Amino acid sequence: MSHSVEIKNLDLSFGAVEVLKNLNLDVNDGEFLVLLGSSGCGKSTLLNVIAGLLEPTDGQIWIKDKNVTWAEPSERGIGMVFQSYALYPQMTVEGNLTFGLKNAKVPKAEIAKRIARAADILQIEPLLKRKPGALSGGQRQRVAIGRALVRDVEVFLFDEPLSNLDAKLRADLRVELKRLHNNLKNTMIYVTHDQVEAMTLADRIAIMKGGKIMQLGTPAEIYGKPQNLYVADFIGSPSMTFFEGRISDGKIAIPGHDLPLEGYEYASAPVNDQPAIIGIRPEHVLTGDNLRSAAYTTEVTVDLVEPMGSDTLVYCELGGQTFRIRMDGQAQVASGMTLKIGFNPAAASLFDTTTEARL
Ligand SMILES: Nc1ncnc2c1ncn2[C@@H]1O[C@H](COP(=O)(O)OP(=O)(O)O)[C@@H](O)[C@H]1O
Ligand SMILES: [Mg+2]
Repeated sequence: MSHSVEIKNLDLSFGAVEVLKNLNLDVNDGEFLVLLGSSGCGKSTLLNVIAGLLEPTDGQIWIKDKNVTWAEPSERGIGMVFQSYALYPQMTVEGNLTFGLKNAKVPKAEIAKRIARAADILQIEPLLKRKPGALSGGQRQRVAIGRALVRDVEVFLFDEPLSNLDAKLRADLRVELKRLHNNLKNTMIYVTHDQVEAMTLADRIAIMKGGKIMQLGTPAEIYGKPQNLYVADFIGSPSMTFFEGRISDGKIAIPGHDLPLEGYEYASAPVNDQPAIIGIRPEHVLTGDNLRSAAYTTEVTVDLVEPMGSDTLVYCELGGQTFRIRMDGQAQVASGMTLKIGFNPAAASLFDTTTEARL
């Protein structure tokens, strides 16, 4: 598969502070790649280096098989959309959309064609004569996306474009962005700290921490087979519950329970008496009829119930710590109740206690 963007051995420091550390990443042609990580992990810095707004300390950026490490942003074939919209307040929407094209001496007829197409795709025709001050947040962000769209670029870069919008609008625009990508099939690199955006939009997600990529994979890989404890804890809401124990004789011993591990697919074989951490997602705890497929069952006392509508979160105690269970929205559970729960090792994740790598 051909690569659209290649990031090679990238280092970036602000003075003595290393923000990106020997980072390598190949983005496929037409791929929707999401850079996901908590605030301060270096997502915007990486995007800005790709855009040419920041110079790397070392390493290279290639776009469409050309080394653009030292190229001007305007020469890179990229369009960038920021969280803050960055629209010119004194210009109309149309003015904002045409400004860059006029500067680039694009012929008038071509400008009109591109504006019409972008306005159609983003449904902003009725807004063209308005100024940004007379637009809602969602409309402003559509215009900001339109400005990248009219430039007819190879690669779109998005930096948290939905973060300033309220929850409902964010969800709506998220769906529109996905549709936009399905239609345009451009390469898109999208920065967010929101795991729902990452899971729903991405072909692949790169999870970053401290200027490094902790795992690169499809949403299913990241969710189903997290390669380390950090990713396992980061993805999933509420997150996995982790228990420390030791693996021997095909079982992991956690306080009070010996959980069988037959059926678990090891990424790397455990040593004898291996110190390990087992992570279990709330939705992978078996209850009711599903107990039939359990490799291990036990009883717990329900401590707290959180009804979420579509499902119900149940808190109980297991192995000396709070354990979360996701049941369906109709589940009849109340605090103080005894609940029979089960465990299926195939859905769990095991990690080496020392290296925190997946076993
Ligand atoms: N111009 C700068 N000078 C010094 N440090 C910076 C500068 N820009 C960003 N940083 C630091 O680099 C780290 C990564 O920042 P950033 O890429 O903005 O993170 P993210 O977008 O993931 O929240 C942070 O610790 C931030 O404080
Ligand atoms: Mg940022």
